[in-house]
Amino acid sequence: MAIAIVYGSSGGNTEGVAKKIQATLGMDARVFDIGSADAATLNTFDTFIFGTSTWYDGELQDDWESFNTDTLELVGKRVALFGLGDQEGYGHEFCNGMGILHEVCTDKGAVMIGGDWPVKGYDFEASEAVKNGAFVGLAIDEDNQDELTDERIDTWVERLKAQL
Ligand SMILES: Cc1cc2nc3c(=O)[nH]c(=O)nc-3n(C[C@H](O)[C@H](O)[C@H](O)COP(=O)(O)O)c2cc1C
Repeated sequence: MAIAIVYGSSGGNTEGVAKKIQATLGMDARVFDIGSADAATLNTFDTFIFGTSTWYDGELQDDWESFNTDTLELVGKRVALFGLGDQEGYGHEFCNGMGILHEVCTDKGAVMIGGDWPVKGYDFEASEAVKNGAFVGLAIDEDNQDELTDERIDTWVERLKAQL
């Protein structure tokens, strides 16, 4: 079972996390930059991990913003999410981009996995990536908590593998 890890990254942080997730999964997983990926190739996969950082005032990363998500076929396909943000600088829209991707994927009929990630250990005021008291995917903060990134990836990937 091949997995497509698809990221949008402006400064490289989300790209780095995508590659760490790939290495930690230890499964057949390919990494794609949404800035150069084509829908025809992505649509050959049935399991995805989508990652985005958040920019401006709680917006999706630029390359995700430019990509026409209408071209993605996600009905019945499994999708996990990860998002990067800055909880100190943008505590009122922390990781909102991940919340936006969650809405896109659920609207398109995806089966969401890798969610219910605890908010404990983060310090922020509001996030569109929180539903029912938990993040919809893995939240990473390279700006303030980079020392926790590897441990968070390990724990999340372990939980995700049980759902694959
Ligand atoms: C101008 C600017 C706007 C940002 N806006 C947000 C935001 O609204 N919410 C958030 O959680 N993080 C925000 N961030 C933080 C980035 O998401 C964070 O630095 C992330 O690690 C960048 O990842 P990338 O290099 O993969 O794009 C912003 C950063 C900058 C420089």
